Amino acid sequence: MTPLASQVAAIPRFSLFRRAAQTSHLPRRQQCQFRLKHQRRNHLQMEGQVVAMRVLVTGGSGLVGRAIERVLKEEGEAREGEEWIFLSSKDADLINAEETRAIFEKHRPTHVIHLAAMVGGVYKHIRQKLDFWRNNIRINDNVLNASHEVGVVKVVSCLACFQQYGRRYTAGIPTNIFGPHDSFNIEDCHVLPGLIHKTYLAKKEGKALEVWGSGRPLRQFIYSLDLARLFLWVLREYDEVEPIILSVGEEDEVSIKDTAEAVVEAFGFQNDVIYDTSKTDGQFKKTASNAKLRKYLPDFKFTPFKTAVKETCDWFEANYDIARK
Ligand SMILES: NC(=O)c1ccc[n+]([C@@H]2O[C@H](COP(=O)([O-])OP(=O)(O)OC[C@H]3O[C@@H](n4cnc5c(N)ncnc54)[C@H](OP(=O)(O)O)[C@@H]3O)[C@@H](O)[C@H]2O)c1
Repeated sequence: MTPLASQVAAIPRFSLFRRAAQTSHLPRRQQCQFRLKHQRRNHLQMEGQVVAMRVLVTGGSGLVGRAIERVLKEEGEAREGEEWIFLSSKDADLINAEETRAIFEKHRPTHVIHLAAMVGGVYKHIRQKLDFWRNNIRINDNVLNASHEVGVVKVVSCLACFQQYGRRYTAGIPTNIFGPHDSFNIEDCHVLPGLIHKTYLAKKEGKALEVWGSGRPLRQFIYSLDLARLFLWVLREYDEVEPIILSVGEEDEVSIKDTAEAVVEAFGFQNDVIYDTSKTDGQFKKTASNAKLRKYLPDFKFTPFKTAVKETCDWFEANYDIARK
């Protein structure tokens, strides 16, 4: 058992979840009263009980955040002494430094899973490259500063690795993520949710499915629920500062054509599938090695790709009205 796990095991059994209360009236000029005396704090007094870890999840309303919440709640992964707070952009705009400070000051987390970001697929990246860069730099800077100022002991980010504060501020680097609660906006989203939405519509309208690009590029897809399980492991057990790639193996790389076929199969789609080669393919491949992950977790079982695709298609169909699209 790691030191962190043993601290957690030593305290009373309870865990709390909450979605942060909406803060429509954030203080205009929040004073910087962040007390570094809390830096090494491992136990908090909260409502008369001892909390070992108060985990703030930025981007808690997104694809990965929702998956973490589900794994904690539905798979009994929540541990005693932990409190989990899931934020959305409605709680604080993390591009804004004051709002970021205010929300961190309010919740005073000991641990942070940082998922908030401007996210999108290849076509959105082409259109808004500079916005992505600027917004995400600001969000990361604000979140890391606020974490440091309120004495967060561990940050697991999805984007980069941060060593300068001498704390365990590390990063999980996922490959292409998909699952329930993804963005399914055809113009702006990633390739797999885009294929799911297009296949759903083509089936409903009795039309052909049009896949953008040649179908030849290769991708490693990770199911959001598998990634959520891995993020919990990184938060609790992974003690290195060096980032770790969270991905299926290189042998599990699939082509966009195979991906489209998995979606077609999941929906029982029977019309034609056309490849529009006038649209960009994006990078041909971005193969990532999960050898380091496998060294730590040789027995971790990834959900088979087709099962995960089927579950995501079923979720999308059942939740069409509320899905982001
Ligand atoms: N999806 C992928 O394939 C992929 C691959 C590699 C890495 N990643 C990284 O993984 C992380 C999570 O991605 P995801 O797919 O879960 O993203 P997502 O579904 O698009 O969710 C993004 C989250 O960030 C929040 N957010 C966006 N802008 C914000 C702002 N200005 N202030 C506060 N919160 C803001 C959103 O809040 P609202 O719900 O209120 O908008 C949402 O909770 C990101 O860092 C992303 O770059 C994703």
